Amino acid sequence: MQRIDNQYYIQGIRVEDIAQQFGTPLYVYDADHILGQINRFRQGFSTVNLQIKYACKALTNINIMKLMLSQGVGLDTVSLSEMRMGLEVGFAPQDIVFTPNCVGIEELIEAADLGVRINIENLSNLEKFAQHYGSQIPVCIRLNPHIATQNNADKVDWWHNQSKFGISLDQMKDVKAIAQQYSLPINGIHIHSSSVIMTPEVFLKGAETVFEIALGFENLEFIDFGGGIKVNVGDGKEVIDIVELGQQLDPVFQAFCQKYGRTLELWFEPGRFLVGNAGTLLTECKVRKRNGGTEFVGVDSGLNHLIRPMMYDAYHEIVNVSNPEGAPQKYTVVGNICEIDNLGKDRQLPEVREGDIIALKSAGAYGYSMASTYNSRFRPAEVLVINGEARLIRKRDTYEDFMRNQIDVTLENSITQ
Ligand code: LLP
Repeated sequence: MQRIDNQYYIQGIRVEDIAQQFGTPLYVYDADHILGQINRFRQGFSTVNLQIKYACKALTNINIMKLMLSQGVGLDTVSLSEMRMGLEVGFAPQDIVFTPNCVGIEELIEAADLGVRINIENLSNLEKFAQHYGSQIPVCIRLNPHIATQNNADKVDWWHNQSKFGISLDQMKDVKAIAQQYSLPINGIHIHSSSVIMTPEVFLKGAETVFEIALGFENLEFIDFGGGIKVNVGDGKEVIDIVELGQQLDPVFQAFCQKYGRTLELWFEPGRFLVGNAGTLLTECKVRKRNGGTEFVGVDSGLNHLIRPMMYDAYHEIVNVSNPEGAPQKYTVVGNICEIDNLGKDRQLPEVREGDIIALKSAGAYGYSMASTYNSRFRPAEVLVINGEARLIRKRDTYEDFMRNQIDVTLENSITQ
């Protein structure tokens, strides 16, 4: 979203016009931004054999998947449905990786039979998989490298050894024993750095642990560094510079490959890096009210559409699209859900009037994909701005959607008064 004079635009289209045409609440994605992020990622890793696997849990619209496909980006999936969508839009099975956690072995078997790449993150499934396939299908191992990040927020601090993710370093001997017993080829080593990794130094520390472990496996084809690359959301917090990260990782990776005796592929699974700042949630201010000392802006959305502020204390920059020149004032922007439902607390915004379009930025990743129908409110429509045109890519829910799967079994005479 770009401000020119008194108007906000996406690819030259007035944001207010988009809101008017498609209604609010509305998720709007800018395809150009996504393409720019893909290029930037590649620019950072131009000297290695980089494979980007888009973590489609961030934004699971098939048009976004197709956009990735058109750019030669692969897919990271965590459920059979994500995988099916990927296959349906045309990804080759070998360009899709399945990185679930704590799923039953039957899901892994179904995925393997579809021909996608398999990532396993616990010994129990590793053994069952090996028993089932023996040497037929290689798997990648997800590590838990026991690294504490700078941030101790439990909700996002996933590298440390108390988290449920990955196979602990001290279980590597068990991994090797299983692989040997069943002649199971291990073709990749994976870690997923949560988004609290803000500096190349912390990242490189994790990478070195991975490289060390990798030397103990003979059949590797790739190292997978997962996702978790933060983007600048305007909260003033440090973010990693992808080009700088690439430049710092490059010599370490090359040295590892030399020691390993072969040049491996380097994989990443970015979600938010590619789509986070491409998305905006457009809402309309329906009610202005004042309680105590607080000026509230009540919009036609809420935690049902964007749960990140309430769930993670995540910051989303808020913009008054309709009145950029209004006198600045402090507001708390809230949704219409029947509980505390802050989208942004104590924000300085140009005067907000009922009817103004209020935009929540950085809502491309984990916005729609975590939206719910709580309070029986419709999930928003989605629009993709591509080649200078705003295209509807998902309809708003309807009342019929709510009723479709419900089964009425309350026969009148079986209800005791
Ligand atoms: N790879 C693996 C194995 C993952 O678990 C994830 C995210 C990704 C890649 C992509 O991470 P990204 O690049 O998008 O940070 N709902 C939370 C984020 C949960 C991320 C879960 N795993 C949020 O709204 O911030």
